[in-house]
Order: sequence, then C-alpha cells, then structure tokens
Amino acid sequence: MKNILIIGSTGQIGSELTMVLRGEYGGEHVVAGYIPGAEPKGELLESGPSEICDVTNGQAILQVCEKYHIDAIYNLAALLSVVAESKPLLAWKIGIDGLLNVLEVARTHGCAVFTPSSIGSFGPETPRQLTPQDTVQRPRTIYGVSKVTTELLSDYYFHKYGVDTRSVRFPGLISNVTLPGGGTTDYAVDIYYSAIRGERFVCPIGKGTYMDMMYMPDGLRAAIELMEANPDRLIHRNGFNIAAMSFEPNDIYEAIRKYRPDFEMTYEVDPLKQAIANSWPDRLDDTCARQEWDWAPRYDLDGMTRDMLEKLEKKLHA
Ligand code: SER
Repeated sequence: MKNILIIGSTGQIGSELTMVLRGEYGGEHVVAGYIPGAEPKGELLESGPSEICDVTNGQAILQVCEKYHIDAIYNLAALLSVVAESKPLLAWKIGIDGLLNVLEVARTHGCAVFTPSSIGSFGPETPRQLTPQDTVQRPRTIYGVSKVTTELLSDYYFHKYGVDTRSVRFPGLISNVTLPGGGTTDYAVDIYYSAIRGERFVCPIGKGTYMDMMYMPDGLRAAIELMEANPDRLIHRNGFNIAAMSFEPNDIYEAIRKYRPDFEMTYEVDPLKQAIANSWPDRLDDTCARQEWDWAPRYDLDGMTRDMLEKLEKKLHA
C-alpha cells in the first residue's frame, strides 16, 4: 500500500483531500502535515497520523518521509493570489523555496510529488478563450510567477532526475468545507454563505468578469486521478489545464436565485481583485487532460449550486 504525505493538510484543499485519500488508501497510510497554529482537529486528527511539517524546513519533510516510508507528497502549502500580493517574499518562500525542499526530498527519498498550479499562472498576453495547454505564461502577480516557476521546476526535476512530478492548473475551487481566504475567486464561495444566511451579497468582482471555476469534489478527483494515471500516457506533466465551468458573477447569482428567489447582490468592485481577474483567462481548454488521463468534470454550475446550498444549509443551520 502506498504511503502519502499531505503538506498543508488543514488548508482549503488539504482538509478535504486528506480525508478522501484516507478513504481510498486507509487512514494510517496518509499523514496530515501541518504547521503550528493550524493543527488538524476532529475527524482529520482522529482518522490517521499527523506530523508538524513546515514546507520551509526541508529536514523536517525528510524526517516525516523516512518515518512513514512516504511514496507520494501532495504539496499544498501556498498563499493565494490576493494575500500573496501583500506578502510577495513570503509567497516566494513558501511557494518556491518550499517546493525546492519538497523536490529535493523527493529526489533523495524517491517520492512522487503533486504541487498545484493555477489559472493564475497565465497573464494578460495569454489567449483568454479556450486557453491552450501550451501557450504564453507571463503572469503579473507573485502568485502567478510562483506557479509558473512551480511548473518549470517540477518539470526540471522530472527530466533531470526522473522525479515523478505531476500537477494541474486549478480553477477557482468552490467548497462548503474549508474557506479559501485570500484568493481572487473567493467570491464564488462567499456568495453561497450570504445566500444561506439571508444576507445581500456585495460582489468584489465586476459584472462580465469570467473565470474558470470548479466544485471541490471534482478538484480532489483531478489531483488523485492524475497521480494514479498511467505515466506512459502522459505527454505533459506540470501542469495540466483542467476545466469544469466558466462563469461571471451574474451567472452564479442567477444560478442561486433559481433556488433562493429573494437573494440579492450588489457590486462593490475591489480594484486589486479585479485587476488580477482581468489578467486571467476566461476559459481553459482541457483537451490534453482529457486525452492523457481521461479527465472529465462531473459538476456544472447548476449541479454545484444545488449541492452547495443543500450542504451549507445543513452546516450553518445545524
Ligand atoms: N483560487 C486561486 C486564487 O484566487 C486561483 O487559483 O488565488
């Protein structure tokens, strides 16, 4: 049985990915790595081992890998796009110095590595519609710069050392479990909380601003399916375009109003978030992921909206 380490196990993706992987591989085979102050709690704490594992400390990562005979690392430590703009040096330290630590451990210890890239790895010169897999990547944010570097370094370690590195370019991920915090696409999560609380939503992203989005269950499945994919079929590695839905604020508002007709939304555009959103593509072409590892999303905007409203209703009104 494979042993897996999740770095950033209590974050937006990690808190759910750890539980799904434990369901698949067995709780004792999936180690929840965390930093002090972000300890796992409840089910995450009780369903398997957890260890302090700061991505900026290569020695600590190596020790955990040796102790648990780790075969694969999901490296999820990162600052999202908006918060990274206020702390660019920290974003680099976590995203790139941290990644180098992970890749060096993977090289010496022999692990596979998954590190997310993002729609944020593209910039204003990138084709906006059906953005190709291989195209211009000149992002204007430190988040994007670190994601492009992530892709390049991960490919470098594969070609030079044979480290099994794989990655997807995640769209904005929407979940009812752990809040994102500090991203440009966060509005598409926050809007559901406002709808359930019966509050008017003030949208920080302007009308007509399209971005790729994905429901978390599809995002988790993408990461796991790519890591389990037959390497002989992979032409690309870091990172694959994946897509599920592309919408603008009014689309998600109308999707919610279908089930909550009294829900109201106004706009108060946040200039930083808007500038970042304007520099990202509207919609990625995920043909390569579909061809090379059979990627296919299961949720569209309506399916996600129904599930989000149902789950949040239970969570917030429990
Ligand atoms: N959700 C991320 C952000 O908004 C993009 O990958 O920063």
